[in-house]
Amino acid sequence: MRTIFFFVVGAALTAAGAESFRPTIPQVWDEVALRDLELPLASTGLPPGHITPEYYYAQKVRPIYTSYPVYHPDREPAGYFENLKSREPIVLWNDTDKRPKLVVADDWVAAGELVFDAPIAYVELTPEQRATRANEFRTLPYRLTPNGQIPFYRYVIREKGKVELGLLACAECHNRVMPDGSIIKGAQGNPPFDLQFARAIHASSVESARRGQRVLFAAPVAAQPVVSQLDRLSPAQIAAYHETVPLGVLARHGSGSFTPVQIPDLIGVDERRYLDHTGLQRNRGLGDLMRYAALNQGADLLSDFGGIIPRADPATQARPAATNGTRYSDEQLYALALYLKSLRPPLNPNPTNAITRRGEEVFREQECARCHDPEQGYTNHKLVVAPGFTVPADHPARADILTKRSVDTDPTLALQTRRGTGLYKVPSLRGVWYRSHFEHNGSCATLEDWFDPRRLADTYVPTGWKGPPGTTTRAVRGHDYGLDLNEADRRALIAFLRTL
Ligand code: HEC
Ligand code: HEC
Repeated sequence: MRTIFFFVVGAALTAAGAESFRPTIPQVWDEVALRDLELPLASTGLPPGHITPEYYYAQKVRPIYTSYPVYHPDREPAGYFENLKSREPIVLWNDTDKRPKLVVADDWVAAGELVFDAPIAYVELTPEQRATRANEFRTLPYRLTPNGQIPFYRYVIREKGKVELGLLACAECHNRVMPDGSIIKGAQGNPPFDLQFARAIHASSVESARRGQRVLFAAPVAAQPVVSQLDRLSPAQIAAYHETVPLGVLARHGSGSFTPVQIPDLIGVDERRYLDHTGLQRNRGLGDLMRYAALNQGADLLSDFGGIIPRADPATQARPAATNGTRYSDEQLYALALYLKSLRPPLNPNPTNAITRRGEEVFREQECARCHDPEQGYTNHKLVVAPGFTVPADHPARADILTKRSVDTDPTLALQTRRGTGLYKVPSLRGVWYRSHFEHNGSCATLEDWFDPRRLADTYVPTGWKGPPGTTTRAVRGHDYGLDLNEADRRALIAFLRTL
């Protein structure tokens, strides 16, 4: 069943006097909007092909349930878990009879936060699973809130007596726990995602470990690392790739465990014109943010990447039945997009002083603003060409591609993956003070390392993502701006960047 809500554009007064908000919700699976949503892939020259609106809307809407915080096993209040078992399931939002209050604009933002926090996958916590997870919580570098919670996951009760661990909410990857335990919602997340995934791979059969990698990372690239060698890799060898990925970086599906990506900061995302490090998807407004969420939380695993449909049956190449699939409702996605738009950075503790003013001068002298333009939020919304890619004359984003100068960073992500467009986006520098792991692969843990000229040498030991298993030294090449400064100016430049 597909429900379309027709709202009149405009505002009316509620009983309380606040302006009611009656948006016209963009249709997420709009064939015209989807047609030129993504840039062509470097590997095929074509953008991914998508499922039809009939298929998309035949998938079931994911109900959002009341959920509960997850504690570190040594910090869980006595009786907490047992108490959850006695609770009734409560549906907060579905496409039939349950809906949060949606009257004024703030209600929509609050409802969007509910979507952001809502898991989309569940693991039943049998005693064995609970023990496995408790072991992971104790032995992996999870950052906790001051009261001992792990704010990446939620407990969910969908059936009375059965407590499930809820996974893959936006919050799992886009909540950042700061050293003092405070949370910046929407910032570059820092869950030990790949380290946990590696544990799961060690415990799985060779078939399921290989199948998982194909679904996540297969691309129309013949010599792609890992996937092209899967028939020879054991679970331990596959897991070793994920074990290289530090907090703040993640082998998102469509990238690769051999080229993981820095988790981006979502604060200010509504202003960016391209999404993903490779600029794969356009962002022409809230409808496109909705499409990004729909694609990346399930639908792009059903897309066609030059003949590769990640979730297709390996034998028949058929997609699973649409009615077995799940999706967000358009209304949930619209609220989510309004929530993303509402995100604001935390108060910046770094004061402006003589050193940062000198840093601002250095920023000007070095012409950083050619790409990181203060007038446009410290980006110019352009794309640069990865070494090895030739931009076709009729490329649909040609006007936004800087063809004169390559920034020359590692081209693996841009050329050898499903997200690879042959291009990298000029990122915004806002919020670098609370972020880490710079460059698209997160190779440099700090700004000091990013502006350290020694990173260009093959003898360098990257401080962030080190490289594929077995890498001991590796140059973090490219982006040689600001690398030949004297020590005082380098410090000043970095101090200035931390005020943004
Ligand atoms: C499993 C981890 C994970 C989950 C879950 C997740 N994301 Fe992301 N998200 C990432 C990573 C990693 C990237 C970077 C991808 C890239 O650059 O190729 C990203 C990129 C994005 C971007 C593009 C930002 C930019 O500036 O390029 C948006 C928008 C986004 N995510 C929103 C969401 C929303 C909304 C949800 C929930 C509906 C969500 N994400 C769920 C990990 C995740
Ligand atoms: C020609 C365009 C261009 C110029 C000029 C430029 N940058 Fe960049 N900058 C980029 C691109 C593109 C990236 C992303 C590279 C990647 O991810 O591989 C980047 C990344 C960065 C990052 C890392 C951001 C992150 O979140 O990972 C910082 C910090 C940065 N630039 C600062 C500067 C400073 C300071 C200057 C001047 C000294 C400068 N840039 C000059 C294009 C440019």
